[in-house]
Amino acid sequence: MSDTLYGYYLQQNVLPTVGHWQGEAELLAHEEHRRVLFTSKLQMPPQVFRCARMLEFGPDAGENSLVFALWGADCTLAEPNTKAHETIRNYFARFNQLNRLTELRSEDVLQFPIPKTDAERFDVIDAEGFIYTILPQRAWLEKCAQLTRPGGFLVVFNCEAYGSFMELMLKVILARYRALTGLEPLPAAQKLFQTKWDSIPHKRRIESWTMDVLMNPFVRMKYFVEPRRMCDEAEQVGWSLYSAWPHYADMLDIHWFKQVRTAEETARLRVDYLERSRLSHMFVRKHFLARPQPGLEHDLWDLLMLTDSLVDAYAAGAATRCMAHLTRIETLLQSADVISSDADREASLQTVRSYQKLFPLLSAGNADEIAAFCNTDPGFIKSWGTPSHFTVFQKTGTAAA
Ligand SMILES: C[S@@+](CC[C@H](N)C(=O)[O-])C[C@H]1O[C@@H](n2cnc3c(N)ncnc32)[C@H](O)[C@@H]1O
Repeated sequence: MSDTLYGYYLQQNVLPTVGHWQGEAELLAHEEHRRVLFTSKLQMPPQVFRCARMLEFGPDAGENSLVFALWGADCTLAEPNTKAHETIRNYFARFNQLNRLTELRSEDVLQFPIPKTDAERFDVIDAEGFIYTILPQRAWLEKCAQLTRPGGFLVVFNCEAYGSFMELMLKVILARYRALTGLEPLPAAQKLFQTKWDSIPHKRRIESWTMDVLMNPFVRMKYFVEPRRMCDEAEQVGWSLYSAWPHYADMLDIHWFKQVRTAEETARLRVDYLERSRLSHMFVRKHFLARPQPGLEHDLWDLLMLTDSLVDAYAAGAATRCMAHLTRIETLLQSADVISSDADREASLQTVRSYQKLFPLLSAGNADEIAAFCNTDPGFIKSWGTPSHFTVFQKTGTAAA
């Protein structure tokens, strides 16, 4: 296995995210999607990017970069998968944005040279879809702080642990099915997940999804971000949480506008809010805990670690322990301890019950029955989790520079 994600991509025949845009219409549609995301969810309207000195790590084909350019950012792009460079240049030329492409470089995050002055530092750093694969986490948080001007922003898009439970389950199912059938990854994924994949309005083919998620060795617990720890570490190296999607700051904390929360109070509220949001992240629905549940953090983490272990080797004993954790989640979802709409509660209970049916099928080891379940069970087909979290940090200017 390659020890970097870009090393993994360098071994592939396709770029992981390229949309092969044919014309202006695709760029405009993407701009609209990004404008809504950045304005409504991340509180960073396009105006923030006007004349900004912008550094984007890992742009792949550069489709997000083109939107930053349209918004007026001067873009330095650092893409260590040099197979993407020609596509990036062609895209910028084709959409008349070459004047916004300040530099196209091939260093990875940790190799990128540290500027000596604030004039050379950046207003915004964007790193989407990969930075969580750089360990230890503190290394990239610190490096990006060294590259950013005081008051500047860091936008990251990461795989989050609790939101990735269902992604891990897909990897378990694929691994188990392949062990039973001897099939290669793509035909196995098609037999298992084509119905599920076709049930959502995706933009990429099942081939890319199989490479980029199902078989990607970096989509694993070892790398996933746990938001409480990431925010704590970010603060230690000079960042403060600016925004996140899903929200990480306590959105229920109401106080007089002249009152200023201390950093400690804000951090304490954030931890509490995050711990009560784990089920929401897991099921991508509102399932906020009305009160803390002793031991739940530990049990959910155990469920994630057990599921992750099943990707490497299926063990019926570990599956039985997963079932016990699912029973606790089922009981909790049925109780008044979870704030939820009836529809959300029912939908997530359906998901839990689907997994309660699936584990015995996986343990029994009949490949046809597993495939039949994956193509027909509505709770399984509808469930996706929320593996992808956006976080924006702002540089406070107090440390690491
Ligand atoms: C999944 S793609 C995401 C592309 C784009 N940012 C997006 O979100 O659509 C991840 C990209 O990050 C690049 N990458 C991986 N590891 C990196 C690193 N350590 N430093 C910089 N780029 C990296 C990969 O080569 C790839 O182009």
